[in-house]
Amino acid sequence: MTETTTSSGGRPNLPMQGVPQPSRDEVLNLPRVHISSHPVMAHKMTALRNKNTQPPEFYRHVKEIGALLAYEATATLAIESSPIETPMGPMIGERLAGGIGVTPILRAGLGLAEGFREVIPDAQIWHLGLRRDEQTLEAMEYYNQLPHRVDLQVCYAVDPMLATGGSAIDAINVLKRRAIPRLCYVGIIAAPYGLLKLSQTHPDIDIYIAALDESLNDVGYILPGLGDAGDRQFGTF
Ligand code: PRP
Ligand code: URA
Repeated sequence: MTETTTSSGGRPNLPMQGVPQPSRDEVLNLPRVHISSHPVMAHKMTALRNKNTQPPEFYRHVKEIGALLAYEATATLAIESSPIETPMGPMIGERLAGGIGVTPILRAGLGLAEGFREVIPDAQIWHLGLRRDEQTLEAMEYYNQLPHRVDLQVCYAVDPMLATGGSAIDAINVLKRRAIPRLCYVGIIAAPYGLLKLSQTHPDIDIYIAALDESLNDVGYILPGLGDAGDRQFGTF
């Protein structure tokens, strides 16, 4: 995590202050960054962003977008042969080779993790609680249910919003201590600033997002974004 300094007015300097934010075009073609171009995703994103969408519907959209992102992010998973008998006779089928882990970054990652479970019901769910301090925008860990025994081929850290990138970077740091062969980050909306930071800090992971937005505002919210993803899922305004 970054060291906190204060401006002359006593307010902590935020990570993106005094640093020019990259434009959307500058980060569009970063290596290992996958931005969904699926029309169904674009349709659901508009419903999600709409300020009139209420928490029950918002949560449902997050889950559905999570399932679509799960399809995209699992497209390159390893498979192995699996001999079976169909009613017509024997055949060599295929199955996923090795376990799949999903780490929802609490709270807002919970809806996305549910979407993943619709696609991969036997995924292991490794809960990790990170809260962004609204004064400094630094992420602080407050809950960790990561098992010590690792039998995964991949683990997906899932969190709807990639703003300054602090929470995503810290989550991947925590997961890297578990020696998982492959790590990915999956989010709904990224700001160019956070996306560049995550990609530069962890160039060895794949990043899957539904949309790349324009910028961060003065207090670290994504524009045009969707507001607060946790509050909108759980009705805590
Ligand atoms: C939000 C969001 C991310 C983080 C993104 O969570 O869900 O975890 O902020 O910001 P960053 O990229 O600048 O770190 P928040 O800390 O508000 O907690 P919540 O999920 O409990 O609402
Ligand atoms: N967290 C959110 O929920 N929304 C933002 O725009 C930024 C961080």
